[in-house]
Amino acid sequence: MTETSTETTTEAIPDHLQAGRDEPHVLEACHDSEHEQRHAAAVLEEACLAFGTLEVLHQINITFRHGALTAVVGPNGSGKTSLLRMLAGFCAPSVGTICWHDVKRIALAEQADERAAWMPLRVRDVLVMGRYGHSGLVKRFDRRDKEIVAEAAERMDISRLLNRQLGQLSVGQRRRVRLAMCLAQEAQMLLLDEPEGGLDIASNQRIFAEMEKEKQRGAAVVFATHKLEEAAKSDYVVLLNKGVVAQGPATEVLHRKQLSRVFGSEMLEEMLV
Ligand SMILES: Nc1ncnc2c1ncn2[C@@H]1O[C@H](COP(=O)(O)OP(=O)(O)OP(=O)(O)O)[C@@H](O)[C@H]1O
Ligand SMILES: [Mg+2]
Repeated sequence: MTETSTETTTEAIPDHLQAGRDEPHVLEACHDSEHEQRHAAAVLEEACLAFGTLEVLHQINITFRHGALTAVVGPNGSGKTSLLRMLAGFCAPSVGTICWHDVKRIALAEQADERAAWMPLRVRDVLVMGRYGHSGLVKRFDRRDKEIVAEAAERMDISRLLNRQLGQLSVGQRRRVRLAMCLAQEAQMLLLDEPEGGLDIASNQRIFAEMEKEKQRGAAVVFATHKLEEAAKSDYVVLLNKGVVAQGPATEVLHRKQLSRVFGSEMLEEMLV
């Protein structure tokens, strides 16, 4: 791209995505002091992930911290879901390491999770399952568990759905149930794979507000997204394309030059409209 065309198209970038545009740089590691002070929740070192001979994540070095909201941004197939699944412990690095610190419970809201839709479960049952990590399968479900389930339902605005069958809900309603289940887990690490998928605007705003509250509670909150507007609201951004292209504070990473390296300039223009 020529200098002239870069200048012209830069005008289209919202203000909060323009920061640092004159001094593009790739941050291989985040050296932001506030970030460094937060203690590590998960540390990936040279972590690779392969399915058979297909490597889908390559030499990932990231420290996810407690009390921080991190967005993972990248195009289809760039490895966002694979990274979140690895963070959740569902798959181990084929090379390199992942270590968790002060993380007893991890909640993962998967991108497409329709597995339970056929089961004869009420919404309340699903939220109660979110408490199993605390109560176990045999311990009595106590008053505090009940309160947290009711609160999680309220937080995702599904209180009136509690007695409905999961399979009879709309896709967006089921998604909200899954997100409420994650909130009920009171996890130290909350992983949300494209939480905005299938949600209306009000629910989307709601989940972002709740993610912020989880962060304030001290959880390490990580979400995958295609939406630059949403990523811009987070503390840190990881720009992923099988390997880490850039990582650091949102204002430094969400930069036209870096984004176009990952998305290509044509797709980036579409994304910025
Ligand atoms: N179970 C699997 N077996 C083989 N390959 C897989 C498996 N899961 C994912 N992959 C491959 O890993 C790569 C990364 O996929 P992943 O789902 O992590 O991408 P993504 O960034 O989440 O994409 P999207 O934006 O479409 O959700 C893709 O090439 C995909 O085909
Ligand atoms: Mg995905």
